[in-house]
Amino acid sequence: MSGCESDHLKNMTELLLPLAQETRLPVRDALRPGAHRNRRRSNGDANRLDPTDRPAHGWYRFVLSFPPHLVRDYLHRFDADSKTVCFDPFCGTGTTLVECKKLGIASIGVEAHPMSFFAAATKTDWAADPERLLAHAEGVAQRALEQFNSDGISDAPGNVPSRVRLRRLPAETASLLLDNSISALPLHKTLVLLEKLRECSGSEYHRHELLALAQALVSTVGNLHFGPEVGVGPPKMDVAVIARWLEQIRTIASDLRHLRSQWQTKASVIRADSRDLAGLIEPQSVDVVITSPPYPNEKDYTRTTRLESVLLGLLQTKQELRAIKQFLMRSNTRNVYKGDDDHFWIANHPEIHRIADAIERRRISLGKTSGFERMYAAVTKLYFGGMAKHLHQLKAILRPGAKLAYVVGDQASYLRVMIRTGQILADVARAQGYEVRGMDLFRTRFSTATGEQLREEVVLLRWPG
Ligand SMILES: C[S@@+](CC[C@H](N)C(=O)[O-])C[C@H]1O[C@@H](n2cnc3c(N)ncnc32)[C@H](O)[C@@H]1O
Repeated sequence: MSGCESDHLKNMTELLLPLAQETRLPVRDALRPGAHRNRRRSNGDANRLDPTDRPAHGWYRFVLSFPPHLVRDYLHRFDADSKTVCFDPFCGTGTTLVECKKLGIASIGVEAHPMSFFAAATKTDWAADPERLLAHAEGVAQRALEQFNSDGISDAPGNVPSRVRLRRLPAETASLLLDNSISALPLHKTLVLLEKLRECSGSEYHRHELLALAQALVSTVGNLHFGPEVGVGPPKMDVAVIARWLEQIRTIASDLRHLRSQWQTKASVIRADSRDLAGLIEPQSVDVVITSPPYPNEKDYTRTTRLESVLLGLLQTKQELRAIKQFLMRSNTRNVYKGDDDHFWIANHPEIHRIADAIERRRISLGKTSGFERMYAAVTKLYFGGMAKHLHQLKAILRPGAKLAYVVGDQASYLRVMIRTGQILADVARAQGYEVRGMDLFRTRFSTATGEQLREEVVLLRWPG
C-alpha cells in the first residue's frame, strides 16, 4: 500500500475536537455530515441555498450563482426531458449542470474562469466511491497532522507557536491575494495540506479533495466575507484547517452516497470563451439554454474567487491573471484591453450608444477623470457587443426551435446611468434573428443611488432555425 492509499486516521477524536469545541457539539455529533450547517456563518451566507438543494450544489458556490429552483422552473417550462440537451454558456460553478444531472437531463457547460470551470467539472463528477474518498482523505489528513506535529503545532486553534518558520507563498503569488484574506498560521496549515494532497495528485479523489479545500478556504479558513462583493473581515489568527477540510469531505462523501446512482447522466464542462464557440459543440445539438451571463456592473470574477484560485495553483502570476481576464466578457473596467473590438457587434444599436453617450456626458459634467471612470462608456458597448457576438456564435449549435433563458440584472453602476440590461439584451438577440418570447421578473432590488427599482429578469428567447 502506498502512502497515498493509507486509509485510517489514527486519532479521529483528536481531529474533531476543535470542531466540537467551536460548535459545542459532542465529538460524535461533530462527525455527522452537515452538523455545522445550522451555525450562524458570516462567510458565504449571502449565497443561501435551500437545504434540500445542498447535495453537490453546496460543494462550492459563489455569491453570484443563481438558485437551483430557477433552473428547475425553466427546465419544466421548456418541457425538458431525458432526451433534452441543456447548455449553459456561462456556467460558473455549475448550478445548471448539477440541476440537470439530478433530473437525468444531459448538459454542457462553458466557463472561462479556471476556478469556476474546475468547480463545475468536479461538482458534476459523481462517479467517485464515497467510502474510498473518505478513507483517502483521512490518510492525507493523517500525514498533514504528522507534519504539524513535527512543526510543533496542532490543528486545534489557539496554540500559536513562536518559533515555527511558517510556510509562505512566493512573493508574486502572494501579491495576487486580497490583503489579509488569510492569516499566517491558517495559510501555513493550508500549504502543508496542499503539499500532502500534491503527493497524491494522481489519485482519483484529488479533484474532490481540492474542491473541499476551496470551500473550506472561502467559508471558514480565510478571512473573507461576501455580501455581495467579496471583502476581508476581522483576521482569524488560527483555524482548524484539517478538521474543516475533512468536514467538507464528509459532506461530499455523504452526498455521493445518494448521487452516485445518477453518475451516468452526461454533464460535460468546457473551459472556453462563450464569444468563441466555433467547433466546440456539435452543430444543432442543443435544445435548451439556461444561463446567467455577467452583467455590466464592475464585478470582477477573478477577485471573488482569488483566494482559492491562488491556493489551488490555478493562478500563480500576474501574467496568468491578465490572461484569465482577457478570456472573460468585458463586464467591468478592470478587464478592458487595447485592441478590444466587441463593440463592433453593436455598431448599429442606437439605445446602447445613447446610454454610452449619457455615461460619458455625465462623467465629464461631474469632472470624473480616473482611468476606470473614463472606461465606463467603452465597457458598456464592449459588454453588449460581447453578448451579441456570443448570441451569433451560439446559433450554429442550437436545434431549430431551441428555447433560451438568460438571467440578467439592470445596472446603474456607471455614474448612476440606468442600464436596463434585460431589455437591451432582448433587442440585441432580436437583431441576431432570435424571437423574443417574453421577459420574466425574477426579483427586484432598490437602488439607493438612483431611487429606482433594479430588475433582475429572465429574457426568454427562441431560435427559429
Ligand atoms: C453570473 S456568473 C454565472 C453563475 C452560474 N449561473 C452559477 O450558478 O455559478 C457568470 C459566469 O460567466 C463567466 N464568464 C465570464 N466571461 C465568460 C466568457 N467569455 N465565456 C464563458 N464564461 C464567462 C464568469 O467567470 C462567471 O463564472
